[in-house]
Amino acid sequence: MTKVRDSGMPAAEQWESYFDAAGILESLGCRDLNGDAVEFGCGYGTFTIAAAQMMLGTIYALDIDPRMVTATAERVSRVGLQNVVVEQRDFVAEGCGRESQSASLVLLFNILHFEDPVGLLREAHRVLRLGGLVGIIHWNYDEHTPRGPPLNIRPRPQQCRAWGEDAGLRWVRNESFPGSPWHWGMVLKRS
Ligand SMILES: C[S@@+](CC[C@H](N)C(=O)[O-])C[C@H]1O[C@@H](n2cnc3c(N)ncnc32)[C@H](O)[C@@H]1O
Repeated sequence: MTKVRDSGMPAAEQWESYFDAAGILESLGCRDLNGDAVEFGCGYGTFTIAAAQMMLGTIYALDIDPRMVTATAERVSRVGLQNVVVEQRDFVAEGCGRESQSASLVLLFNILHFEDPVGLLREAHRVLRLGGLVGIIHWNYDEHTPRGPPLNIRPRPQQCRAWGEDAGLRWVRNESFPGSPWHWGMVLKRS
């Protein structure tokens, strides 16, 4: 089992007070996107639910932690969403389990402080169809954020862009989120 370092979570209400999930997904271009999405590390389903409500395809929400899988699955059924598959899976050891070039979107949210970010981005590249997008968000590189991994492992946007390019992805744009002041975002593309 290869849990990403420093990927523990506070209580759901606290975690979700840090984001405007729908606003972030809108800014990254997810609204009405055709095709499926793969979410690496879905946590409480904070972004899973919002993505499923704005996208037309299926969201494959993966997490290694059974408590997170249960939390997300319960939420999906409470809201009555039909387009989410929640799976307990170690994406480090096993990859995401989806066919190559089968997805239109990969979500790498608060996860790229991982020991092997380029490996993860290569897996994102593999699963994306041509023209497919990677949405990345992470905590600002700032010691005053209310949470986030230690600064010595917290990636900056420029670093994530370079990792993405190493993995064969093309940088599209950076984003900031008015409703989520502690985070920055980025869109990469498989072209
Ligand atoms: C910091 S949380 C972020 C959750 C979600 N992306 C969000 O931003 O709300 C990271 C999540 O990744 C999961 N995770 C860590 N290592 C993993 C692995 N190897 N395979 C699958 N999930 C993993 C953790 O259990 C945790 O739920």
